[in-house]
Amino acid sequence: MNESMSRVCDAIRAKDTLIFLETPEESEAIRELQAIALGLNQSLICWNPVEHFVDLTPEGGKKAMKPLNTVDELSSMLKEISEYAGNAIFILQDLQFLMNERVPPAQLAIMIRNFKILRQKLRTTQKTIITMGNHYGLPVELEDDFLLIRRSRPDKDELMKILMSFIAAQHWEDRLSSDSKVRDLIIDAALGLTADQSRSSFAKAVISNGRLDEKAIPFLLDQKKQIIQRNDLLEYYDATTTVDSVGGLLYLKDWLKKRKRTFTEEARSLGIQEPKGLLIFGVPGGGKSLTAKAAASMWQMPLLRFDIGRVFGQYVGQSESNMREALNIAEAISPCILWIDEIEKGFAGASGGHETTTRVLGNFLTWMQEKKSTVIVIATANDITKLPDEFIRKGRFDEMFFVSTPNQDERNEILEILLRKHKLDPENYNIRELVQYSKDRTGAEIEQAIMEAKINAFDQDKSPTTEDIYEVFSAVIPIWATFKNKVSSPEYKRIIDSAKPASPSEST
Ligand SMILES: Nc1ncnc2c1ncn2[C@@H]1O[C@H](COP(=O)(O)OP(=O)(O)OP(=O)(O)O)[C@@H](O)[C@H]1O
Ligand SMILES: [Mg+2]
Repeated sequence: MNESMSRVCDAIRAKDTLIFLETPEESEAIRELQAIALGLNQSLICWNPVEHFVDLTPEGGKKAMKPLNTVDELSSMLKEISEYAGNAIFILQDLQFLMNERVPPAQLAIMIRNFKILRQKLRTTQKTIITMGNHYGLPVELEDDFLLIRRSRPDKDELMKILMSFIAAQHWEDRLSSDSKVRDLIIDAALGLTADQSRSSFAKAVISNGRLDEKAIPFLLDQKKQIIQRNDLLEYYDATTTVDSVGGLLYLKDWLKKRKRTFTEEARSLGIQEPKGLLIFGVPGGGKSLTAKAAASMWQMPLLRFDIGRVFGQYVGQSESNMREALNIAEAISPCILWIDEIEKGFAGASGGHETTTRVLGNFLTWMQEKKSTVIVIATANDITKLPDEFIRKGRFDEMFFVSTPNQDERNEILEILLRKHKLDPENYNIRELVQYSKDRTGAEIEQAIMEAKINAFDQDKSPTTEDIYEVFSAVIPIWATFKNKVSSPEYKRIIDSAKPASPSEST
């Protein structure tokens, strides 16, 4: 059984009479509750506003004593439960929709009181109320009354069981690769999905590929990408950007390279710790996001781009629950990189004392501190001074790197990489001159100049020359012209002092 479902079982035994089970998959949780009910010899009765009471006790279990009265109103439903004479687990569906802020306060107050009374009353019985939803959405007044349990996503072992029982149910034994390594890869590809989602992905993979073998893995990964993207919080990237495409940033790349081996068994056995997180900040267009992507291919881990801005929702508790949902998925997919791009934008409100933002930030930092799974946070930021102090405190991230504009050698390397990227041969250019012209320009600006020169030249039916690129440079003021003022502010300077430079300075 899922670890969190054993906690539900323990809670029922310990007479925690009100439980909120947070889960993205209701049907799976109900199946597991049926097993729990069977084990505890209790009936399983479900109520929702459409079907009212339904007996869900599985075959061989203790069926509900008598059909309960049809009640569609919350208070009468609770009264029915209170008066029910048998042992039972009651599942209340959709409760969070019936008790939200749109319900008139007087009515809500009665329901809240009802639950508080019931919680005590059920203690002397063998009855438990379990309500479930995607995220905890009950009034704050009930927060202490409901025991909140989060149902975790299936881990590798559970996914393997899900896969095998799915294959058996479909009689598809001949369609599953017999190679255990391939089976492990199939499981890895499904890691992070719920049980229902993984079953549906397996089915689609068999339908589109004919078999579940190594050829189905790209399909499974693509399915996962689409499913994860659906929640808008996370975006799944395959590790395709190689470190060769990043010019300069020597110290930063070196740090990443040295950490690569910390993820091995060997390092673990020697007590060498893997990194918790990395913060990269500095000039826009300096290659921060590019480096985060390159880290994924260097470490051979998937990259999850986490859009913190989307965490904040309009309902009570929604932001916290979105944060947990994202972290749950990341933990389920681990080892992975959780990339928080433009982190200052998401958490900007926290330093201003915005209550929800501060709380969500607190949850995030606690998670970062306590996490056991290999989820490496790579945060990137431009204006680091907008970030609350807690973030930059020593020990929070393993390292902070400041990215400035590239020095001469770096520009040389970046020019060659980017010319090649845009199908131009560096041999045909005077790189030395271009290195001079591109002083104070970021990698993104150099790329922009190359692309624009290419378009201009194409319009004249020719290839761009060194002079064409120079011309674009001379027409555009570098972003550094304004950004350097920000960097030289005392607040920014203070943070740079506690960080490492991403590359050697110009003079070396
Ligand atoms: N050091 C570099 N080496 C090679 N290409 C670079 C480098 N820096 C930037 N580029 C090019 O510029 C593009 C944009 O860079 P990137 O998005 O990584 O910048 P950023 O630092 O994340 O900027 P922002 O702060 O605006 O998010 C890259 O995709 C790449 O093509
Ligand atoms: Mg970026």
